[in-house]
Amino acid sequence: MKALTDADFEAVRSYLVSEAGLIFDESRRAGLTSTLADRMHSIGETEVPAYLSALRGKDGEPERQRLLDAVTVQETHFFRNPPQMEALRRRILPELLRRAAGRDRPLTIWSAGCSTGEEPYTLAMLLLELSPMLGAQSQARILGTDISSQALRAAGRATYTGRSLDSAPPMVRDRWLEPEHGSSYAVKDAARRLVELRLHNLVTDPPPFGPGEVDLIVCRNVTIYFGRDTTARLIGRFHDLLAEGGYLLLGHSETLWQVSDAFSLVPVGDAFVYRRSHADNARAQPSRSGGPGARRSRATPVVRDPRPARATPPRPAVTRGADSRRGADLLLAEARDLLAAGEHAAAAGAAARAVAADPLLAPAYLVLGEARSTLGQDGAAIDTLRKTVYLDPSSAHAHYLLAAALSRTGLHGAAAVSYRAAARAVESMTAEQVAELPGRDQAELAHLCEQMAREAAEAAADAGAVSAPWGAS
Ligand SMILES: C[S@@+](CC[C@H](N)C(=O)[O-])C[C@H]1O[C@@H](n2cnc3c(N)ncnc32)[C@H](O)[C@@H]1O
Repeated sequence: MKALTDADFEAVRSYLVSEAGLIFDESRRAGLTSTLADRMHSIGETEVPAYLSALRGKDGEPERQRLLDAVTVQETHFFRNPPQMEALRRRILPELLRRAAGRDRPLTIWSAGCSTGEEPYTLAMLLLELSPMLGAQSQARILGTDISSQALRAAGRATYTGRSLDSAPPMVRDRWLEPEHGSSYAVKDAARRLVELRLHNLVTDPPPFGPGEVDLIVCRNVTIYFGRDTTARLIGRFHDLLAEGGYLLLGHSETLWQVSDAFSLVPVGDAFVYRRSHADNARAQPSRSGGPGARRSRATPVVRDPRPARATPPRPAVTRGADSRRGADLLLAEARDLLAAGEHAAAAGAAARAVAADPLLAPAYLVLGEARSTLGQDGAAIDTLRKTVYLDPSSAHAHYLLAAALSRTGLHGAAAVSYRAAARAVESMTAEQVAELPGRDQAELAHLCEQMAREAAEAAADAGAVSAPWGAS
């Protein structure tokens, strides 16, 4: 097929946004062109407008589904995102199991955008590890939904090989999967029984649950393909569907910062998760302002997300841990002084204590990440700086340090993404922040970051990088 004209590209883009919320920017144009060429060829169509009309026609449904199967990214694996797995195993699932005991409604989990099934089966295995006697959906129910019928067919087969299983702890794998022919494994019935699969479009279909009926929604690496408004509407629906105290887990690069302030952001071990609680807004509202945040509960340090876009964001009113908050602020000041004095190990120590005292204090993570970078501890610095940009995506400094550490570690694709994020953050700086740039011009800095992004992207291409640009999760 010849290259897509601008008009054809626009028409296909707007079709995919309206059908599935999927955004295709210029960087995905070549891929979309080739997918479209395959699809059009298979039904003998040569013109994009005629193909789109056929999709909308009364017999268009099968081809519409095949196109959605072809344009969606189904990358997934068992036990994806280890910090979240720990948070589920140690805290979230035990808490939800306790809450569901003696209640007439089963523990209800929605794996939204479940792809080929690894995610809902992982959830089933985690539940069974905690409560091996869970026998049926009357006690616990995991609904896996996806827009891709092809992915759901694979999920229904529940047979997996190789890479997909690499992150599964061997003992768990041996308990809940059985070897089949060759190197493949089948999910055992005990785990399959808890999972129900359903074709469902998160953008256009009515939700599969009523208000307050869900205890945990896991929607990871799905909204990265949506625009901000689509994501904000979806998050609002999730908020309505979750029961009081219910949890929402997003992918590690998906934050509600500048999307919704309806949830509380809760640190659990090395993961950040969202929780619906009565302190939150009644409904999710799309937000660009960065409100000051919710009150903290006695049990858990919690702030409303998004965090304000400042070097030291204003802190929410605190009902718990005012002393530890004050302690964290003092430790942060000490860490900054030590860093400025070139005492990096001591700065890292003070910043680590500040983070322990307040696990949501983004500037403390920044100092810790910078100190670790300077000490040559790039692996630890990357972990820390990822948390920094999660908590405060407006921090150009954190994106930049993260990009540099990723580059040094050879993760050039991810570095390019972070340099680009640094450039965008520089462009969005307030006049006050720009005034703090010592002898630097804002446009010059943004340009420098863009240039470094291009160089990193070239290095990634040279290295034949094929992994997702946001790095392993
Ligand atoms: C990258 S996979 C993520 C799988 C899994 N959640 C994980 O994190 O491993 C993204 C999935 O979202 C699905 N998806 C994309 N747009 C969707 C929509 N509008 N409604 C439902 N699912 C959608 C895709 O089909 C794909 O299977």
